[in-house]
Amino acid sequence: MTQQLILGQTLGFAADPFHAPIEEAAQHQTRGGVLREAGKIAAIGAADDVRAAHPDAAVTDYGDALISAGFVDAHVHYPQTGIIASWGKRLIDWLNLYTFPEEARFGDAGYAAEVAARYLDLALDHGTTSMASYCTIHSASVDAFFEAAAARGMRVVAGKTCMDRDTAPETLRDTAQGAYDASAALIARWHGVGRAGYAITPRFSPTSTPAQLEALGALWAENPDVLMQTHLSEQVDEIEWVRGLYPQARDYLDTYEAYGLLGARGVYGHAIHLEPREKDRLREVGAGLVHCPTSNTFIGSGLFDLMGLAAAGQRVGLATDTGGGSSFSMLRTMAAAYEVAQLSGHAVHPAQLWWLATEGAARVLHLDGVVGALRVGAEADLVVLDLASTPAIAQRSARADDIWGAVFPTIMMGDDRAVRDVWVHGARRQ
Ligand code: GUN
Ligand code: ZN
Repeated sequence: MTQQLILGQTLGFAADPFHAPIEEAAQHQTRGGVLREAGKIAAIGAADDVRAAHPDAAVTDYGDALISAGFVDAHVHYPQTGIIASWGKRLIDWLNLYTFPEEARFGDAGYAAEVAARYLDLALDHGTTSMASYCTIHSASVDAFFEAAAARGMRVVAGKTCMDRDTAPETLRDTAQGAYDASAALIARWHGVGRAGYAITPRFSPTSTPAQLEALGALWAENPDVLMQTHLSEQVDEIEWVRGLYPQARDYLDTYEAYGLLGARGVYGHAIHLEPREKDRLREVGAGLVHCPTSNTFIGSGLFDLMGLAAAGQRVGLATDTGGGSSFSMLRTMAAAYEVAQLSGHAVHPAQLWWLATEGAARVLHLDGVVGALRVGAEADLVVLDLASTPAIAQRSARADDIWGAVFPTIMMGDDRAVRDVWVHGARRQ
């Protein structure tokens, strides 16, 4: 098996920078080397050392460009690619006016395949090598996504979005039993096949009946190694809606908890307006919370308490929420996370932002150490970034006196122009 040595600046993490000092958590080499073999990272260290230890490896030298684990996007809706940046609505109207009509088109398998390919190519253009995506209610939309990801060699998580309540349009409704059966068939077809992972996906409690939530809770209990992804407490009017639809529930989270949809492998998008009981239960079970800052500002949802939740020991990751989010870029998403935290009086360190977009996002998907990590044994999904990708960024990063000063202008002002190269499962993207 051929070995490949990839040279440049390297940035990875030995620990979570929310709970360890930045100098101990982050690992930076000004001249580093990553050795990949059989799709994995086989060695990492100072360039000269790795080179001396592996003299026969083929070399790709990126000079002073930054080599990082590829970005991991913990919550996206690939079917919303075509309606990203649609103007002027808050959540419920935005779903009805833009999202549901677009998702109805995914009954056409050809259209689903076209958008899946377009979305994944855009994600790779932006340096994102893994993500967890919602699909539509159509099983064909799930097949299309996993097939397109497999064609690109990508590790992805996805699931059929389930909606059986008359709050969703009739063309986008399944049933409790139909959602159970279709999701079970998709788990059997895709979970653990190549780099695919399945997530049981009730869209959110307003579009499911209690019977559907219960059926999906039972399916999760029968398949405890799959993930479960849904939305939680994104907007205040959404929470009011949930209160009306589930009068017996103690709070929004209870609509999931009561039906077996709360657990460590649960991935809860947004989680902005949480009650103390909800925070306690989420932390007790070790559930994943996904911060979607460009979406939260774009749809006007509110300010996620990143620093408070992270300090309290919640499992937190970062995501674009394409297309409620207004960008495919995890750089832009880190910038929005920084800005949202500033509005609450916190300056998030660039190391913490980078960790959230790589290891943190992987951790909420229970893929820590597998993707999102520049570490021996992890899969070799890499992004190579030019830290002077535009004149505006170059003139600022030229004044940097450490790695964080060099990286932060790219976080705040960077986009797909910063992505010099991408490696997926050890193969350089063509
Ligand atoms: N809540 C339920 N569905 C959605 C969706 O598609 N996008 C966002 N942002 N929130 C949701
Ligand atoms: Zn979402």
